[in-house]
Amino acid sequence: MRALGINGSPRREWNTATLLRSALEGAESVGAQTELVHLYDLDYRGCTSCFTCKRKGNSCNGLCAMRDDLREVLEAVLATDVLILGSPIYFGDVTGETRSFLERLLFPNISYDEFGRSDFPRQVSCGLIFTMNCPAQYVKDVGYDVLFENYVRLMGILKGPCELLTSHETWQFSDYSVMNAAMFDVEAKARRRAEQFPVDCQRAFEMGARLAKEQS
Ligand SMILES: Cc1cc2nc3c(=O)[nH]c(=O)nc-3n(C[C@H](O)[C@H](O)[C@H](O)COP(=O)(O)O)c2cc1C
Repeated sequence: MRALGINGSPRREWNTATLLRSALEGAESVGAQTELVHLYDLDYRGCTSCFTCKRKGNSCNGLCAMRDDLREVLEAVLATDVLILGSPIYFGDVTGETRSFLERLLFPNISYDEFGRSDFPRQVSCGLIFTMNCPAQYVKDVGYDVLFENYVRLMGILKGPCELLTSHETWQFSDYSVMNAAMFDVEAKARRRAEQFPVDCQRAFEMGARLAKEQS
């Protein structure tokens, strides 16, 4: 059984990647083979509306026809049992690279013959991990609840269950004292980093284990 982690943060060792690693460790704890891909290592674009995947008689089988670095990753998604996708929230959405990845993954699998039908050839359980500055209690006020629900709904195209984990008020810089970032309460951020982030990592671990267990 396979679990694939996709890091949509440009940072390989920060909040999103750390939570993804915890989720993959959880999946490993119940026997999954795991892999972590960093999208920002790859050279690719979002969907270019070539519509090869919508042509009559095409042989895409759910795989985007564009040939670039993302192709191998999309093939890996088609072969995995669990997909855990992580992204920081940038200007109220996932990062551009995460969005481009999703366009390329999902568009070839939605039917234009029948509204709402997915032609994804397998069933993949999904976990979404979103990290952000925004405190959890503001999620509704800033409309992130709608955003999150939309991504959970979209991942339904992969035909499996989808769990969402959010991590808030993340520690953004290694040294706040050298940054123009006076609006942050650094002590509160540091406390959050020390006390809440390990809890979030544990939640990620448990999510990874749960998703992998359901598939085994
Ligand atoms: C370009 C940019 C835009 C951001 N926009 C938002 C935002 O709209 N809402 C928010 O809560 N956090 C925002 N953040 C903060 C990041 O989402 C947060 O620090 C995240 O945990 C970073 O993930 P990483 O540590 O994996 O890189 C932004 C950060 C950057 C660099």
